[in-house]
Amino acid sequence: IKKIAVLTSGGDAPGMNAAIRSVVRACAYHKIECVGVYRGYEGLMEGDFKQMNARSVKGIINKGGTILKSARSLEFKTKEGRQLAFENLQKEGIDGLVVIGGDGTFTGAMIFNQEFNFPVMGIPGTIDNDIFGTSHTLGFDTALNTVVDAIDKIRDTASSHNRLFFVEVMGRDVGHIALNVGIAGGAEEILIPEEDLGLDRLVESLNRSKKSGKSSSIVVVAEGDKIGKNIFELKDYVDENMEGYDVRVSVLGHMQRGGAPSCFDRVLASRMGVKAVESLIEGQTNYMVGLLNNKIELTPLDNAIKGKSKINLELLRVSDIMST
Ligand code: F6P
Repeated sequence: IKKIAVLTSGGDAPGMNAAIRSVVRACAYHKIECVGVYRGYEGLMEGDFKQMNARSVKGIINKGGTILKSARSLEFKTKEGRQLAFENLQKEGIDGLVVIGGDGTFTGAMIFNQEFNFPVMGIPGTIDNDIFGTSHTLGFDTALNTVVDAIDKIRDTASSHNRLFFVEVMGRDVGHIALNVGIAGGAEEILIPEEDLGLDRLVESLNRSKKSGKSSSIVVVAEGDKIGKNIFELKDYVDENMEGYDVRVSVLGHMQRGGAPSCFDRVLASRMGVKAVESLIEGQTNYMVGLLNNKIELTPLDNAIKGKSKINLELLRVSDIMST
């Protein structure tokens, strides 16, 4: 390997910059050239490249978002698009590619590897934590802290007005963010796609906690949860079937993806970037680097995408006990 390209693709996540920095510096350390690709696979197809050295990534370890920008590319899903990308990489003499993103990003990388036998390595970057083969994706820890901070603030107003708040958090189809912030933010109930509580049991449980002396409540709802058609219909149902609470909805949205990465995400990104570069140098390809039992390990991209990132059952039990 003589020249590695790095890109970020899909939804941005805090820690992506720290990972770019790590890839660039690991290349410099091993005396390999490094090229940044703008806007993910879009930039790969357009040849939007920038030569990078150790100094090009100064002052970014603490920055949210991604300096290389990101995109969700439709054209890369076509054979013609991938052919263009391959030709651009060849023209530049690039012989290895590090992609930072989630399952869509990894699917693209895997197909690209199969078609052109091009060495690829994935770094998991998404706040959703929905990737198999790593206990943490980049950005997950930061997003948890951001959301807990928001819930603490919502609680101030909930308790001042004796209100019931439904707080919707991101996570796409999985409930990792909801479950963790629900416990950390002291939520009365946590609604996640992995567990179907049902509307009646929700109302029962809220009534019970009201009777036990609670004057305000917070229910954390994962965006992928199917209990109500959407969180506003859920509010209407509870409004109609429960007395004594003023009910409000707060959808946190994209603020969950922003902000300075936590210390944990910065360290994880630094470790993952080094491992990605060194694995390519060793001749490994088509893997994702991940954190397993506090070690950075490789998982085939195929498994990372298709394997299920399971919800922690112990956390579920703890959350049940805490809402007593
Ligand atoms: O995958 C990250 C994520 O923020 C999800 O939690 C959310 O469902 C989705 O991206 C939102 O996507 P977009 O930024 O395209 O609206």
